Amino acid sequence: MTAQIIDGKQVAADMRTELKVEVAKLKEQGIVPGLGVILVGEDPASQSYVTAKERACENIGIYSDNNRLPAETSQEELMALVEKMNKDSKINGILVQLPLPKALNEAEVLLAIDPAKDVDGFHPINVGKMMVGEKAFLPCTPHGIIQLLLRSGVTIEGAEVVIVGRSNIVGKPLANMLIQKKPNANATVTVCHTRTKNLPSHTKRADIVIAAAGRPNTVTADMVKEGVVVIDVGVNRVEDATKKKGYRLVGDVDFEAVKEKASFITPVPGGVGPMTITMLLYNTVESAKRAAGIEVA
Ligand code: GUN
Repeated sequence: MTAQIIDGKQVAADMRTELKVEVAKLKEQGIVPGLGVILVGEDPASQSYVTAKERACENIGIYSDNNRLPAETSQEELMALVEKMNKDSKINGILVQLPLPKALNEAEVLLAIDPAKDVDGFHPINVGKMMVGEKAFLPCTPHGIIQLLLRSGVTIEGAEVVIVGRSNIVGKPLANMLIQKKPNANATVTVCHTRTKNLPSHTKRADIVIAAAGRPNTVTADMVKEGVVVIDVGVNRVEDATKKKGYRLVGDVDFEAVKEKASFITPVPGGVGPMTITMLLYNTVESAKRAAGIEVA
């Protein structure tokens, strides 16, 4: 079997077109969704993610307040900026790009964000609401993965899903979302990690494998069954002298070999990445609607 490639760029473009129409309608009612963006330090990968997020806002008509702070920024300065954005009625969503430089207290910053503006879904209030199945901002990467599966026609209900990786941003929230007793969830989920004894014994029985370990070749062809659906969340830089930048991006999955066995697979780049940004836009629009008293589904 050769897999159907899930085109994350196309799915993201379709969703952004829908959002653009919605933003235009909100503007007619005098509502302009706004996102406050904070990047601390000069990490190159974070810089490129944040630039992509700012551009995406501009493209669909979301106002963005972009803040690039030096790596030496103090905890107090960062907290003051978050507080200012909490009070700013033009801002419906606050995005503090992670990871923060080591000297800063990430948990304290996330806790300071008004849960009603927490469009990343990282505030413990939103994490808790999601866990118990209440309406909450859903974290962007897991939510984007679920949208990719659904819009590709993959059945999640009843599926055996194996997630490789237990991060707070992807593995843990995704597992929670997939086990909810709700339509488009109801999956049976196993979360594997660096201390898992026999990773292939789990991945081999999965209908859907989600690789979010942050290491190339974590999932190889011998580790999956014929017809598996594979979502690759990894973004790893590997040296490549033939490239102008000196590196290329690869995921956590041995794409070339696994695609010969899978029924669906996401590429890197062009799979999950564009969806993460799209779901951030989605949450920002949803937040603006809530702030304006418009009912959201
Ligand atoms: N770093 C990696 N992914 C994310 C994300 O979705 N949001 C934020 N704020 N930081 C990240």
